[in-house]
Amino acid sequence: MNVEKVGPVGAEITGIDLSIGNNIPTDKIIEAFLKHSVLIFKNQDLDPISLSKIALIWGQPLIHPVFKGIEGHPEIIQIQNLGEKYHTNAHWHSDVTFEKEPPDVTLLYSLEIPDEGGDTLFSNQYLAYEGLDESLREELENRTAIHSNLGVLILAGGDKKDEKEVEHPVFRTHPASQRKALYITEAFVKGIKGLDSIKSQETLGKLYEHSCDKKYIYRHKWSQGDLVVWDNRCVLHYAEHGYGGKKRTMHRITTAGSKPF
Ligand SMILES: [Fe+2]
Repeated sequence: MNVEKVGPVGAEITGIDLSIGNNIPTDKIIEAFLKHSVLIFKNQDLDPISLSKIALIWGQPLIHPVFKGIEGHPEIIQIQNLGEKYHTNAHWHSDVTFEKEPPDVTLLYSLEIPDEGGDTLFSNQYLAYEGLDESLREELENRTAIHSNLGVLILAGGDKKDEKEVEHPVFRTHPASQRKALYITEAFVKGIKGLDSIKSQETLGKLYEHSCDKKYIYRHKWSQGDLVVWDNRCVLHYAEHGYGGKKRTMHRITTAGSKPF
């Protein structure tokens, strides 16, 4: 197994076949994952059974609170974008942060890729935390942000009255690395607790801009058969469109989460 860094976040893993029946160096994969936060495995042939099995390297697959899974595999969500109109992930976020225990890890496997567009961008939030203005960092050190599921609920045709909110620290400590990461998501955060709404929105605006500065970003151009695995505890991602009406089909699994601290 070879590990090659691809940018400020992420590494490509080669010399490994993840399909069932192969010997998989789990410890080495986890070691690389904790170091690089995003892993890319190219040319993998993974049916739903293999994908679910591989996910166990990172944790127990979860069933999404809003979106329904594929037949026979409730833990696998098929993400299929048929056009710009239905495109829902073009914003910087970490997955499902409106849950009390958001999923630690997401696996995304590409089945069908358009010949242009559809890149996924990843931003290193350890570096974003470390690169913050010292005064802003001190000011926010023990603050929490309010995350809400309202946006997703509306997209899924749900009812506003089912909105739920949770509080998570603005700076999250990764339980394995003990490093701190900036942990805010433009899609789900409503405000910073304890700040008046003007100050809160102004601060969030600065944080959003900072969190996706290009010096923290790796851009992934997909090929069919890519498996990309990322750590939601220290990485934000953004699904770009730009492929018009062409088809793009992915399978996604998230694994069990833990309460951010
Ligand atoms: Fe996502």
